[in-house]
Amino acid sequence: MIIDIFGAGAIGLLFYSKLVSHSSVATIHLWTRTSEQATLINQQGITAQTSTTDYNVEAQTYIPSKLHQACAIYDMTDNENKPKADYILVTVKQKDITADFVSYLKQRADHHTRIICLQNGVRTDVWWDSPWQVYAAITTEGAKRISPNEVSHTGIGKTVVGRVTNISSTRVVDQSKAIDKEEQLWIQLLLNELQKAGLDIVLSNNIDKDIYRKLVINAVINPLTAIWRIMNGELLVSKQRLAVMRQLYDEVIEVYEANGIEVSSLWWEDILAVCQATSNNTSSMLADVLQSKTTEIQWINGSIIKMGQDYHISTPTNDCVYHLIEAMNRQEDH
Ligand code: PAF
Repeated sequence: MIIDIFGAGAIGLLFYSKLVSHSSVATIHLWTRTSEQATLINQQGITAQTSTTDYNVEAQTYIPSKLHQACAIYDMTDNENKPKADYILVTVKQKDITADFVSYLKQRADHHTRIICLQNGVRTDVWWDSPWQVYAAITTEGAKRISPNEVSHTGIGKTVVGRVTNISSTRVVDQSKAIDKEEQLWIQLLLNELQKAGLDIVLSNNIDKDIYRKLVINAVINPLTAIWRIMNGELLVSKQRLAVMRQLYDEVIEVYEANGIEVSSLWWEDILAVCQATSNNTSSMLADVLQSKTTEIQWINGSIIKMGQDYHISTPTNDCVYHLIEAMNRQEDH
């Protein structure tokens, strides 16, 4: 079995470290943005930190065998003879899924390759045209990239995977229930391998709902932590902060209901629980802002605004955070 991971950020490094340390049957390739990162990982290995129950940090370094090499995406032509991947995990952010990126990724795929996309926000899987089977995955694993070859597993989470076949810009159609037996066997082989590597990962029978649940969590936590420059847990410390969170939340729910998206009354409590469980985490949007990187605001609150516009629902709080975050990035092209 050949598993390729595209993207060596926090989640890509976490999945790679788990797989290289546990898998005896799979060949794992990690595709990085730079050749420096690939060389570092191949020569010095990958270090994964985990917190033990008594709050100590344990670090283990795995030197990948010749089988499990890291390679730079842009050096792909040197790797033309490698057999194609059976599964490709796409762990880069939405903003990095460009036409260029997809053209490199396509060189690693043929008709049997399953592509699993792990992004925040509403999908851009519109890139992934036939003939591939495309899956969306939502993960609550907490991971932080410490350096190009070090990752910290900051919170044990769960990953759900579901098949996506019919995409428009803001709507996802869940096809998990429609997967036939043969397809289920194919995807289950990958899930077994990831489970053996210690990840809690399952096939969802309602990935649509999982995606929109995660989207509302990100739409509330990410922009506010980035604007106020606080850890996730600090959102809970005052009623003024909670009131702004609630305003964002209520708008998202109104937009979902107008769009006919199934909502759950538990989602507000879920957001508070995520803030608590990840209280010492820097949200991914705050991390991007601190590093002057383009954020995922367009795919998170931007997609809520767009879905609202489709049904003439105004979203003033989402509009406000959207513009505040967009205006932070001085390098943005116009
Ligand atoms: O984007 C993130 O940072 C994470 O999805 C979450 C759940 C908000 C926790 O930090």
